[in-house]
Amino acid sequence: MARQKFVAGNWKMFTSAASGRALARAVAAGVTDDRVRVAVAPPYPYLALIAECLAGSRVGVAAQNLYPAHEGAFTGEVSPEMLKDVGCKYVILGHSERRHGLGERNEFINLKVRAAIDAGLDVILCVGETLEEREKDHTQQIIWRQLYDALAGFDRALVHRLTIAYEPVWAIGTGRTATPDQAQEVHAYIRGLARKAWDEQSAAALTIQYGGSVKAENARELMSQPDIDGALVGGASLKPESFLAIVAGAA
Ligand code: 13P
Repeated sequence: MARQKFVAGNWKMFTSAASGRALARAVAAGVTDDRVRVAVAPPYPYLALIAECLAGSRVGVAAQNLYPAHEGAFTGEVSPEMLKDVGCKYVILGHSERRHGLGERNEFINLKVRAAIDAGLDVILCVGETLEEREKDHTQQIIWRQLYDALAGFDRALVHRLTIAYEPVWAIGTGRTATPDQAQEVHAYIRGLARKAWDEQSAAALTIQYGGSVKAENARELMSQPDIDGALVGGASLKPESFLAIVAGAA
């Protein structure tokens, strides 16, 4: 069975209550069929508000992070249960802006993946190499390590609740996109790892998004590659026209 395409908008630390509400409403109005799975990831303070705006629509809500504990004395942190409680279906974990900007390590990301799955949140796990790592030809070993460590203990029977987002760090927010061939090569590698670690059927069921300067102009060609199952979109998800054009490119 063909995998359903999945397009998610990572709003990062952008929008306000008013602009987020307007953006969510416009996206919901534009997603009129179920051919493509769609989600948006607003900043924490707006999750409940956006979830309310999107209730009954075809657009799901994702958080951009979580803390791997049910509750406790963790000042400033947010638990998976709280995210579920305000209407999140997904959580983005391991984004490079957290790995590189905030020092998040694979082992900590693994705790987050486990906590998310246990709480009933579906995971979008980001992996990707830096420019230096690519130039040294270390891309595959970096991706292998990120996946191996972050998915330790993951039950392959839950593969339908996992999305891998391949986001080459050098393509994020830079306007520089991996070519469809470059992206497809890494996506095929990731699916091959899933085949080896799990089995053919689980690998075939795994959704692998591409992220890194995805725009209306390049989305269709990227997502027509055999192992590219959608997109994790940053900048272009902040305008309904560009985000909806990307969604259309996935159909
Ligand atoms: P841009 O689309 O702005 O390059 O961001 C990609 C990204 O980091 C999505 O998570």
